Amino acid sequence: MKRAVYPGSFDPMTYGHLDIIKRASKVFDELTVSVLDNKGKTPLFSVNDRVNILKDATKDLPNVKIDSFSGLLIDYAKKYDIHVAVRGLRAITDFEYELQLAQTNRKLSKGALDTIFLTTSLEYSYLSSSGVKEIARFGGDISECVPDFVADLIFERLKEIDGR
Ligand code: PNS
Repeated sequence: MKRAVYPGSFDPMTYGHLDIIKRASKVFDELTVSVLDNKGKTPLFSVNDRVNILKDATKDLPNVKIDSFSGLLIDYAKKYDIHVAVRGLRAITDFEYELQLAQTNRKLSKGALDTIFLTTSLEYSYLSSSGVKEIARFGGDISECVPDFVADLIFERLKEIDGR
């Protein structure tokens, strides 16, 4: 069985992520999308919320599982006997960081975890979670960036935070 993990912060999931998930789910028999529980960052959404958003958005994709992890990706992948990580590449600006991540994971895992890149569809190549949050913070239109239910959750969460 060909299995892969798509790790990320997904704070929040965008149409760009969803595009990668849908396409990777056609390449692998099973794709686990795993949300990093990064104690060092202050995310907009809790890990639980991010997992639930991903579950809702991928409910029609039977071979996609949603999970979360903390610590090193190579340890998580080893635990579940996964040998491929999937990452999306939007533009050349992503390349340096992604190359470093992929090389580090391959070195640390002694070759057990390799990375496969999918180039983001052109229509989503401008999208990033941080960009979406910034647009929303200033009351902009994010309807082309995230599914409607995610947009609602973002505005609700921003209201909670700002007391708006
Ligand atoms: O969506 P992001 O924030 O670009 O995802 C980054 C992620 C989660 C893939 C990366 O930070 C990660 O795998 N972190 C887990 C810790 C780890 O394994 N670090 C070693 C590689 S530098």
